[in-house]
Amino acid sequence: MSTFKILVTSQKGGVGKSTVSANLAAYMRRQGQSVTLIDFDTHGSSSTWMTRAPNIGVVVQHHVLPLDQGGNRPILDARLHLRRAASSTEVVICDLTWTDSIAGELMFEYDLVIVPTSVSEIELTATAGFLSRHRWVFDSAIHTPPTLLVCPTRVQVEQLNSDVFSKQRFPVSFMLAPPVLEAQSAREMFERGYLMDLQDACGASFNEFGKSVCAAREMRESAQGMRQTINTRGTASSMRTAGAPNRATAGSNFLANSSTLSSQYSILGRHRMQKVRPEELSPKAAVQAPAPQNTSIASMSIPQFLKRMSMGVMSK
Ligand SMILES: Nc1ncnc2c1ncn2[C@@H]1O[C@H](COP(=O)(O)OP(=O)(O)OP(=O)(O)O)[C@@H](O)[C@H]1O
Ligand SMILES: [Mg+2]
Repeated sequence: MSTFKILVTSQKGGVGKSTVSANLAAYMRRQGQSVTLIDFDTHGSSSTWMTRAPNIGVVVQHHVLPLDQGGNRPILDARLHLRRAASSTEVVICDLTWTDSIAGELMFEYDLVIVPTSVSEIELTATAGFLSRHRWVFDSAIHTPPTLLVCPTRVQVEQLNSDVFSKQRFPVSFMLAPPVLEAQSAREMFERGYLMDLQDACGASFNEFGKSVCAAREMRESAQGMRQTINTRGTASSMRTAGAPNRATAGSNFLANSSTLSSQYSILGRHRMQKVRPEELSPKAAVQAPAPQNTSIASMSIPQFLKRMSMGVMSK
């Protein structure tokens, strides 16, 4: 399996990028993955968090990008650090505050771009603007676009049912992660431990978010695996059966199915959060889901794409 590269970014400050980065690194490590966290921010919040909290075995790096030098320097530096880290770990997570001096091409280096945002009007507008400006990346037909996962962070319980992630507002292909709840306990975990170990609603919400990242990874990797199979089969069949249009047609149908698949999960991502009964989840997801209760985070926050995936839509 190739290294899974995750960028946690947004142009807005204070939305929870470093909290998400450090805690996702810990979460993925506990899933048995070798993980490198690269903190590209001047403050070094996520790297400090990881180095001072109990050692969980994540490799931590802090590299400040030369943003003031303009040109290609920031992206060249970022690429270099990312590729080096990717050569020795299964998961790389980068924490980066986006600025206009960073070339958008950098995002193509990643498999997954996580954009944390609170659900306040002011932040949603800023997030929508950021995503619209980078629509050419996420909807690229030329390069393989990274999967975009919008993560509502610092969400108050009373905001859980708000319907703010419409496709009119976010005119770009994206998946919606379960929200990470706002809690004093999350602030107190800084440098002390990890959100996944919190025994409260915030801890449960973070674990749901971690699961959704793993699900997004599985979906991407199975789509990629399918494409590879198609390419291999397509080449093989055209070599074997040159001049046999029926075989070639079969190959292109397969290809058409694969592009349906990728656009399908883009579309699925546009579904807003909605209630999913735990029994509708796949056995695998159900094993990890917290106790079924109508008001639990588990029943409120699993996005539609997980539900569809568990129903086998993605594997058709
Ligand atoms: N789920 C949460 N509940 C409560 N507070 C949170 C939560 N997530 C983050 N915070 C707090 O919000 C503040 C900003 O978080 P964080 O540093 O992770 O954001 P950031 O986007 O990395 O900020 P910056 O732009 O400064 O790098 C911190 O004080 C942090 O403790
Ligand atoms: Mg930060």
